[in-house]
Amino acid sequence: MNVFKEKHALKVYLSKLKAQNKTVGFVPTMGALHEGHLSLIKKAKKKNDLVVVSIFVNPTQFDNPEDLIKYPKTLSNDIKLLESVSCDVLFHPSVKEIYDQNIVSDKFDFDGLEHEMEGKFRDGHFNGVGTIVKTLFEIVEPDKAYFGQKDFQQLQIIKKMVKKNRINIKIKGCKIFREEDGLAMSSRNTRLTTEHRNAAPFIYKTLKKARKKFGTENALNITEWVENQFKNHPLLTLEYFTIAEEKTLKTIKNKESDKKYRAFIAVFAGDIRLIDNIRLKIN
Ligand code: PAJ
Repeated sequence: MNVFKEKHALKVYLSKLKAQNKTVGFVPTMGALHEGHLSLIKKAKKKNDLVVVSIFVNPTQFDNPEDLIKYPKTLSNDIKLLESVSCDVLFHPSVKEIYDQNIVSDKFDFDGLEHEMEGKFRDGHFNGVGTIVKTLFEIVEPDKAYFGQKDFQQLQIIKKMVKKNRINIKIKGCKIFREEDGLAMSSRNTRLTTEHRNAAPFIYKTLKKARKKFGTENALNITEWVENQFKNHPLLTLEYFTIAEEKTLKTIKNKESDKKYRAFIAVFAGDIRLIDNIRLKIN
């Protein structure tokens, strides 16, 4: 695997391969890699001549300074994992290489997607995500880029950014990879205490029950039911649960048969914030 820290050297390397008509798949990450990340890379490997992975803990998307400082960093293990799935190129720039002296976000208009769910609780988060993903796209210029449905709102926002700016990159959404007990894999899971880790599968269990209820009950009743499930939970605190339409991410009142819906959840396990979501089906 070739490792680059400088954008210029990476661009020069990739331009030679692109001149030979090689297709490039790109998987942006913040490192602390797990099977969820690897599933994106494996998918990219199947569909492209070479795969570029970036590891960059992007400061502008963290609304909580503590979360940024404590974000897990496991570079030597990440490199082993990347080699185990035959990743071709790792881009691992410094903050200075990406932002120089100016560590701020650009402002984006994602047609309102940025104001829903995560946008209500993480101030400026999606401007930070938009800024870094656009910058990385300009450096790597891939044919296809892979994002997990684990961060479904992020995936929809990237699709919107690409469409609005006429960026010629295909955005591929990949399904959520879970631990055996159902907990969605996340770099933040390593920071959970044993007690919180043991409690955390309750999140997906509740989502699955909500999915079952969606066949017969209305969205408001299901939301109240979920809120009650968490009310007396000794270890998990619900931040939000909502049933929304996939395209607009707006909370729904009534189901319409031609639309796709998902349930979204954010929960605090101690001071670790976990998110998850599940696709819902109309019977
Ligand atoms: P990070 O949290 O490292 O995630 C990198 C990619 O892996 C994202 O597309 C995310 O949705 C996906 N992913 C994480 N956990 C997953 C799981 N359990 N199953 C499937 N996919 C999963 O998301 C980011 O980094 C950053 O915001 C980034 C896009 C890199 C911009 O800084």
